[in-house]
Amino acid sequence: MTRISSGIPALDEMLNGGFMPASSILLRGAPGTGKTTFAFQFLIEGLCQNPPQSGLLVAFEEFPESLYRDAASLGWDLKAFESSGLLQIMFTSPEVFLHSLSSPESTLTRRIHDYNIQRIALDSLTHFTRLTTNTHELRDLYNRIINGVRREGLTGLYLGEEMRSDFTIDEKGRLSFIVDCLLLLRYLEIDSAVERAITVLKMRSSDHDKQIHRFNIEASDEPHAPRIHIGPALQGKAGLLAGLTERRIISNVRSTQ
Ligand SMILES: Nc1ncnc2c1ncn2[C@@H]1O[C@H](COP(=O)(O)OP(=O)(O)OP(=O)(O)O)[C@@H](O)[C@H]1O
Ligand SMILES: [Mg+2]
Repeated sequence: MTRISSGIPALDEMLNGGFMPASSILLRGAPGTGKTTFAFQFLIEGLCQNPPQSGLLVAFEEFPESLYRDAASLGWDLKAFESSGLLQIMFTSPEVFLHSLSSPESTLTRRIHDYNIQRIALDSLTHFTRLTTNTHELRDLYNRIINGVRREGLTGLYLGEEMRSDFTIDEKGRLSFIVDCLLLLRYLEIDSAVERAITVLKMRSSDHDKQIHRFNIEASDEPHAPRIHIGPALQGKAGLLAGLTERRIISNVRSTQ
Protein backbone atom coordinates (compact mmCIF):
# COMPACT_ATOMS: atom_id res chain seq x y z
CA MET A 1 0.00 0.00 0.00
CA THR A 2 1.38 3.44 -0.92
CA ARG A 3 2.05 5.42 2.23
CA ILE A 4 1.36 9.11 2.70
CA SER A 5 4.53 11.07 3.38
CA SER A 6 4.54 13.41 6.38
CA GLY A 7 7.04 15.72 4.62
CA ILE A 8 9.69 14.81 7.20
CA PRO A 9 11.89 11.97 5.93
CA ALA A 10 12.96 10.78 9.41
CA LEU A 11 9.35 10.70 10.59
CA ASP A 12 8.36 8.64 7.54
CA GLU A 13 11.08 6.21 8.55
CA MET A 14 9.73 6.08 12.11
CA LEU A 15 6.32 5.30 10.58
CA ASN A 16 7.74 2.49 8.45
CA GLY A 17 7.20 4.48 5.24
CA GLY A 18 4.62 7.12 6.15
CA PHE A 19 0.98 7.38 7.18
CA MET A 20 -1.66 4.95 5.96
CA PRO A 21 -3.84 6.47 3.23
CA ALA A 22 -7.16 7.85 4.51
CA SER A 23 -6.08 7.28 8.10
CA SER A 24 -6.61 9.57 11.09
CA ILE A 25 -3.52 10.91 12.83
CA LEU A 26 -3.56 12.69 16.17
CA LEU A 27 -0.58 14.88 16.97
CA ARG A 28 -0.62 15.82 20.64
CA GLY A 29 1.68 18.36 22.18
CA ALA A 30 2.08 21.17 24.66
CA PRO A 31 1.86 24.83 23.54
CA GLY A 32 4.60 25.80 21.12
CA THR A 33 5.96 22.28 20.62
CA GLY A 34 5.48 22.60 16.84
CA LYS A 35 2.03 21.18 16.11
CA THR A 36 1.00 23.78 13.54
CA THR A 37 4.42 23.53 11.88
CA PHE A 38 3.89 19.77 11.44
CA ALA A 39 0.49 20.52 9.89
CA PHE A 40 2.03 23.01 7.40
CA GLN A 41 4.73 20.48 6.55
CA PHE A 42 2.22 17.66 6.02
CA LEU A 43 0.04 19.77 3.72
CA ILE A 44 2.91 21.31 1.75
CA GLU A 45 4.39 17.85 1.21
CA GLY A 46 1.12 16.93 -0.52
CA LEU A 47 1.53 19.86 -2.92
CA CYS A 48 5.00 18.58 -3.86
CA GLN A 49 3.79 15.11 -4.85
CA ASN A 50 3.51 14.11 -8.46
CA PRO A 51 0.61 14.38 -9.11
CA PRO A 52 0.03 16.94 -6.34
CA GLN A 53 -2.31 16.10 -3.46
CA SER A 54 -4.37 19.15 -2.58
CA GLY A 55 -4.65 20.09 1.07
CA LEU A 56 -7.04 21.87 3.39
CA LEU A 57 -6.09 23.55 6.64
CA VAL A 58 -8.97 24.22 9.01
CA ALA A 59 -8.12 26.73 11.72
CA PHE A 60 -10.42 27.43 14.65
CA GLU A 61 -10.20 30.76 16.35
CA GLU A 62 -6.74 31.56 15.08
CA PHE A 63 -6.39 34.99 13.53
CA PRO A 64 -5.67 34.53 9.81
CA GLU A 65 -2.84 37.07 9.90
CA SER A 66 -1.00 35.23 12.67
CA LEU A 67 -1.21 31.96 10.74
CA TYR A 68 0.27 33.57 7.59
CA ARG A 69 2.90 35.31 9.70
CA ASP A 70 3.92 32.08 11.49
CA ALA A 71 4.28 30.29 8.14
CA ALA A 72 6.24 33.23 6.67
CA SER A 73 8.71 33.12 9.56
CA LEU A 74 9.47 29.53 8.53
CA GLY A 75 9.88 30.54 4.87
CA TRP A 76 6.46 29.45 3.57
CA ASP A 77 4.24 31.78 1.57
CA LEU A 78 0.80 30.36 2.29
CA LYS A 79 -0.92 32.92 0.06
CA ALA A 80 1.14 31.74 -2.91
CA PHE A 81 0.15 28.13 -2.20
CA GLU A 82 -3.48 29.22 -1.97
CA SER A 83 -3.21 31.08 -5.27
CA SER A 84 -1.95 27.90 -6.92
CA GLY A 85 -5.30 26.31 -5.95
CA LEU A 86 -3.53 23.41 -4.21
CA LEU A 87 -3.92 24.70 -0.66
CA GLN A 88 -7.18 25.78 0.90
CA ILE A 89 -7.36 27.49 4.27
CA MET A 90 -10.62 27.79 6.19
CA PHE A 91 -11.11 29.86 9.30
CA THR A 92 -14.25 28.62 10.99
CA SER A 93 -15.81 27.55 14.28
CA PRO A 94 -16.16 23.98 15.58
CA GLU A 95 -19.97 24.27 15.31
CA VAL A 96 -19.91 25.35 11.67
CA PHE A 97 -17.27 22.75 10.77
CA LEU A 98 -19.31 19.91 12.28
CA HIS A 99 -22.45 21.00 10.52
CA SER A 100 -20.64 21.49 7.20
CA LEU A 101 -19.00 18.07 7.29
CA SER A 102 -22.36 16.32 7.29
CA SER A 103 -23.94 18.57 4.69
CA PRO A 104 -23.26 17.70 1.02
CA GLU A 105 -24.05 21.27 -0.08
CA SER A 106 -21.80 23.07 2.40
CA THR A 107 -18.84 25.22 1.37
CA LEU A 108 -16.57 22.68 3.06
CA THR A 109 -17.89 19.66 1.18
CA ARG A 110 -17.92 21.55 -2.09
CA ARG A 111 -14.33 22.67 -1.60
CA ILE A 112 -13.26 19.09 -0.83
CA HIS A 113 -14.79 17.88 -4.09
CA ASP A 114 -14.03 20.88 -6.32
CA TYR A 115 -10.35 20.98 -5.34
CA ASN A 116 -9.97 17.21 -5.00
CA ILE A 117 -8.64 17.61 -1.45
CA GLN A 118 -6.70 14.58 -0.24
CA ARG A 119 -5.06 15.85 2.94
CA ILE A 120 -6.72 17.78 5.73
CA ALA A 121 -5.35 19.23 8.97
CA LEU A 122 -7.52 20.49 11.85
CA ASP A 123 -5.90 23.04 14.16
CA SER A 124 -6.99 22.02 16.70
CA LEU A 125 -9.47 19.35 17.83
CA THR A 126 -9.17 20.71 21.36
CA HIS A 127 -11.59 23.49 20.41
CA PHE A 128 -14.36 20.89 20.19
CA THR A 129 -14.13 20.22 23.93
CA ARG A 130 -16.08 23.39 24.59
CA LEU A 131 -19.10 22.08 22.66
CA THR A 132 -20.03 19.67 25.43
CA THR A 133 -19.09 18.76 28.99
CA ASN A 134 -20.37 15.21 28.52
CA THR A 135 -17.56 12.72 27.84
CA HIS A 136 -19.77 10.36 25.80
CA GLU A 137 -21.08 13.19 23.66
CA LEU A 138 -17.53 14.39 23.06
CA ARG A 139 -16.42 10.94 21.97
CA ASP A 140 -19.41 10.75 19.65
CA LEU A 141 -18.50 14.16 18.25
CA TYR A 142 -14.88 13.10 17.61
CA ASN A 143 -16.16 9.98 15.87
CA ARG A 144 -18.38 12.10 13.66
CA ILE A 145 -15.44 14.27 12.62
CA ILE A 146 -13.00 11.42 12.01
CA ASN A 147 -15.55 9.23 10.21
CA GLY A 148 -16.78 12.19 8.15
CA VAL A 149 -13.23 12.95 6.98
CA ARG A 150 -12.52 9.26 6.31
CA ARG A 151 -15.76 8.96 4.34
CA GLU A 152 -14.44 11.65 2.00
CA GLY A 153 -11.27 9.55 1.55
CA LEU A 154 -8.95 12.15 3.11
CA THR A 155 -5.92 11.54 5.27
CA GLY A 156 -6.61 13.58 8.41
CA LEU A 157 -4.06 15.18 10.70
CA TYR A 158 -5.67 16.33 13.94
CA LEU A 159 -3.80 18.55 16.33
CA GLY A 160 -4.43 18.17 20.04
CA GLU A 161 -3.34 20.65 22.69
CA GLU A 162 -2.27 19.37 26.03
CA MET A 163 -0.89 20.90 29.17
CA ARG A 164 -0.25 17.76 31.19
CA SER A 165 3.16 16.30 31.60
CA ASP A 166 1.87 12.74 32.05
CA PHE A 167 0.67 11.32 28.74
CA THR A 168 -0.94 8.31 30.43
CA ILE A 169 -3.65 10.37 32.14
CA ASP A 170 -6.98 9.68 30.49
CA GLU A 171 -8.14 12.42 28.15
CA LYS A 172 -11.65 13.71 27.79
CA GLY A 173 -13.44 11.96 24.93
CA ARG A 174 -10.68 9.34 24.63
CA LEU A 175 -9.55 10.71 21.31
CA SER A 176 -6.31 8.72 21.38
CA PHE A 177 -8.32 5.49 21.22
CA ILE A 178 -10.34 6.60 18.21
CA VAL A 179 -7.52 7.60 15.87
CA ASP A 180 -5.36 5.24 13.77
CA CYS A 181 -2.05 6.88 14.55
CA LEU A 182 -0.90 8.80 17.62
CA LEU A 183 2.17 11.04 17.69
CA LEU A 184 3.35 12.83 20.78
CA LEU A 185 5.46 15.99 20.95
CA ARG A 186 7.20 16.77 24.20
CA TYR A 187 9.47 19.33 25.77
CA LEU A 188 12.45 17.70 27.44
CA GLU A 189 14.82 19.25 29.89
CA ILE A 190 18.19 17.72 29.19
CA ASP A 191 21.38 19.06 30.71
CA SER A 192 19.68 22.35 31.63
CA ALA A 193 18.39 22.99 28.11
CA VAL A 194 14.84 22.66 26.83
CA GLU A 195 14.60 20.46 23.78
CA ARG A 196 11.77 19.02 21.74
CA ALA A 197 11.12 15.33 21.26
CA ILE A 198 8.74 13.22 19.20
CA THR A 199 7.55 9.65 19.53
CA VAL A 200 5.02 7.43 17.73
CA LEU A 201 2.78 5.97 20.42
CA LYS A 202 0.44 4.03 18.20
CA MET A 203 -0.01 3.08 14.57
CA ARG A 204 -2.75 0.69 13.51
CA SER A 205 -1.96 -1.90 10.79
CA SER A 206 1.77 -1.25 10.86
CA ASP A 207 4.93 -1.64 12.85
CA HIS A 208 6.65 1.61 13.87
CA ASP A 209 9.62 3.05 15.71
CA LYS A 210 9.03 2.94 19.49
CA GLN A 211 11.85 5.26 20.43
CA ILE A 212 11.92 8.91 21.42
CA HIS A 213 13.74 11.26 19.05
CA ARG A 214 14.87 14.83 19.51
CA PHE A 215 13.79 17.30 16.84
CA ASN A 216 14.23 20.95 16.03
CA ILE A 217 12.50 23.53 13.86
CA GLU A 218 14.43 25.62 11.34
CA ALA A 219 13.29 28.08 8.70
CA SER A 220 14.32 27.63 5.08
CA ASP A 221 14.01 29.63 1.84
CA GLU A 222 13.28 26.50 -0.14
CA PRO A 223 9.48 25.98 -0.20
CA HIS A 224 9.69 22.19 -0.32
CA ALA A 225 12.45 21.63 2.24
CA PRO A 226 11.54 20.16 5.65
CA ARG A 227 11.42 22.65 8.52
CA ILE A 228 11.43 19.88 11.08
CA HIS A 229 14.62 17.92 11.61
CA ILE A 230 14.46 14.73 13.61
CA GLY A 231 17.63 13.35 15.17
CA PRO A 232 18.58 9.83 16.23
CA ALA A 233 16.76 8.13 19.11
CA LEU A 234 17.62 9.25 22.62
CA GLN A 235 19.64 6.59 24.37
CA GLY A 236 19.94 5.63 28.01
CA LYS A 237 17.40 8.07 29.42
CA ALA A 238 14.40 7.27 31.60
CA GLY A 239 11.20 9.17 32.36
CA LEU A 240 11.39 11.30 29.21
CA LEU A 241 7.73 11.04 28.26
CA ALA A 242 6.74 12.29 31.68
CA GLY A 243 8.85 15.37 30.92
CA LEU A 244 11.19 14.76 33.82
CA THR A 245 14.53 16.45 34.10
CA GLU A 246 16.66 13.47 33.41
CA ARG A 247 20.28 12.65 33.61
CA ARG A 248 19.93 9.11 34.87
CA ILE A 249 21.52 6.46 32.75
CA ILE A 250 19.23 3.44 32.77
CA SER A 251 22.09 1.02 33.48
CA ASN A 252 23.06 3.08 36.58
CA VAL A 253 19.50 2.95 37.84
CA ARG A 254 19.45 -0.81 37.44
CA SER A 255 22.77 -1.26 39.21
CA THR A 256 21.56 0.60 42.32
CA GLN A 257 18.36 -1.45 42.64
N1 LIG B 1 11.56 30.85 12.03
C1 LIG B 1 11.68 29.97 13.01
N2 LIG B 1 12.86 29.35 13.22
C2 LIG B 1 13.01 28.46 14.21
N3 LIG B 1 12.03 28.12 15.05
C3 LIG B 1 10.82 28.69 14.88
C4 LIG B 1 10.59 29.64 13.85
N4 LIG B 1 9.31 30.04 13.91
C5 LIG B 1 8.77 29.38 14.95
N5 LIG B 1 9.67 28.57 15.52
C6 LIG B 1 9.47 27.70 16.69
O1 LIG B 1 8.24 27.06 16.55
C7 LIG B 1 7.48 27.26 17.75
C8 LIG B 1 6.02 27.38 17.41
O2 LIG B 1 5.67 26.30 16.61
P1 LIG B 1 4.12 26.02 16.33
O3 LIG B 1 3.36 27.28 16.15
O4 LIG B 1 4.08 25.01 15.25
O5 LIG B 1 3.72 25.35 17.72
P2 LIG B 1 2.28 24.90 18.21
O6 LIG B 1 2.49 23.63 18.96
O7 LIG B 1 1.33 24.89 17.08
O8 LIG B 1 1.93 26.08 19.22
P3 LIG B 1 0.49 26.46 19.84
O9 LIG B 1 0.21 25.41 20.87
O10 LIG B 1 0.71 27.81 20.41
O11 LIG B 1 -0.50 26.43 18.71
C9 LIG B 1 8.00 28.53 18.34
O12 LIG B 1 7.82 28.51 19.74
C10 LIG B 1 9.44 28.51 17.96
O13 LIG B 1 10.20 27.82 18.93
MG1 LIG C 1 -0.45 25.92 16.77
